[in-house]
Amino acid sequence: MRVAMIGTGYVGLVSGACFADFGHHVTCIDKNADKIEQLRSGGVPIYEPGLDLLIERNVREGRLDFETDLTEAVKAADVVFIAVGTPSRRGDGHADLSYVYAAAEEIAKAMDGFTVVVTKSTVPVGTGDEVEAVIRKTRPDAQFAVVSNPEFLREGAAIEDFKRPDRVVVGVEDDQAREVMRELYRPLFLNETPIVFTARRTSELIKYAANAFLAMKITFINEMADLCEAVGADVQQVAKGIGLDNRIGGKFLHAGPGYGGSCFPKDTLALTRTAQEYDSPVRLVETVVEINDARKAAMADKVIKACDGDVSGKTVAVLGLTFKPNTDDMRDAPSLDIIPALQKAGAKIKAYDPAGALEAEKLLHDVEMTTGAYLCAEDADVMVIITEWNEFRALDLDRVRECMKGSILVDLRNIYDPADMAERGFKYVSIGR
Ligand code: UDX
Repeated sequence: MRVAMIGTGYVGLVSGACFADFGHHVTCIDKNADKIEQLRSGGVPIYEPGLDLLIERNVREGRLDFETDLTEAVKAADVVFIAVGTPSRRGDGHADLSYVYAAAEEIAKAMDGFTVVVTKSTVPVGTGDEVEAVIRKTRPDAQFAVVSNPEFLREGAAIEDFKRPDRVVVGVEDDQAREVMRELYRPLFLNETPIVFTARRTSELIKYAANAFLAMKITFINEMADLCEAVGADVQQVAKGIGLDNRIGGKFLHAGPGYGGSCFPKDTLALTRTAQEYDSPVRLVETVVEINDARKAAMADKVIKACDGDVSGKTVAVLGLTFKPNTDDMRDAPSLDIIPALQKAGAKIKAYDPAGALEAEKLLHDVEMTTGAYLCAEDADVMVIITEWNEFRALDLDRVRECMKGSILVDLRNIYDPADMAERGFKYVSIGR
């Protein structure tokens, strides 16, 4: 099959490369000429383990190419994916759909023969109807169907998630388009991946409901962690004890500084806005959004408390800036709330992140970036772990202790053992233990 992928952001680029790896011919299109140039010359604009090799192989074998103009690729395509950004709109928290509709109009002008237009971007309920209307208006004669096919991949594990998903969700109301989608995903069905066919609006809502549920699970365990601290219980054990119940499940019960990233914060907020608009508010999700926002700020207070209430003039070494490990993505990262709050309280910040330093430097001010964990620890009064990169799990903690001036370690990801840390002479503070 021939696929045109509009938008080479996270979802577009990973999906495009993976569809090519399934054996389809894929053209990835982006208006950003620098990005396309970089991709053509073998570079990859995002940090994602394994993606460079996957792109390289599929380009070499002639199944994947890159364009700035969509006309030719859309004309030849059986399936056109819209995978452009849907950021939070400034002011009201609704998803900004201007890129989606602009893409739909351009696609309409170029398409030729029966074309399946698929929204892969996370879009509010009803967007498929709107995309259909835009195309119909632009090209009244066009033969097409609009399908919703949300993407559930996680950053840092994107290729594995795309190729071995728990399920594929397809919102489609046209028989011919349903068969095209079945054919597109055929390699997955050979692995017995379940495919859920639904109406288009249902599929659009599934994506938001899934993200909101996961965000709620994290927020629940974060609140349990606070309660554990208050009553003298251990949140890791609570998570294990409840997670072994199959009805609950053990995943996404890791307490931390609050969820961040490109999806949960924007999608939970957008869901609350949609629900309010339809006069059917989702109060549980509204509360999750509030609690998570407050939590990020509260983490700075936790550090200050660990320093006996005062960080003024103290040097805080921060390990991990990205919203999670194995990515250079800084979007809504808890570090962006925690670090400025510590600075406001008078702290001097040194930081180290294995991949996010460049991005972080654009977003944070007056932070001394270092190139390694021990350099970061040098002469620090307190060390704070914000992101659980694997290399932090493997640190020589005695060496860290020797590098530091003070002995306070605040671990917002629970990656060390409290008893072991005490033995090594740290004043160790973690989450919910
Ligand atoms: C998420 C969804 O998992 C994915 O299905 C969707 O397509 C996009 O959004 P992603 O944002 O890449 O993926 O990362 P994820 O691993 O889900 O983590 C999101 C945030 O939650 C991170 O800040 C992470 O640190 C936090 N988190 C996750 C926790 O604090 N505890 C957990 O147990 C799990």
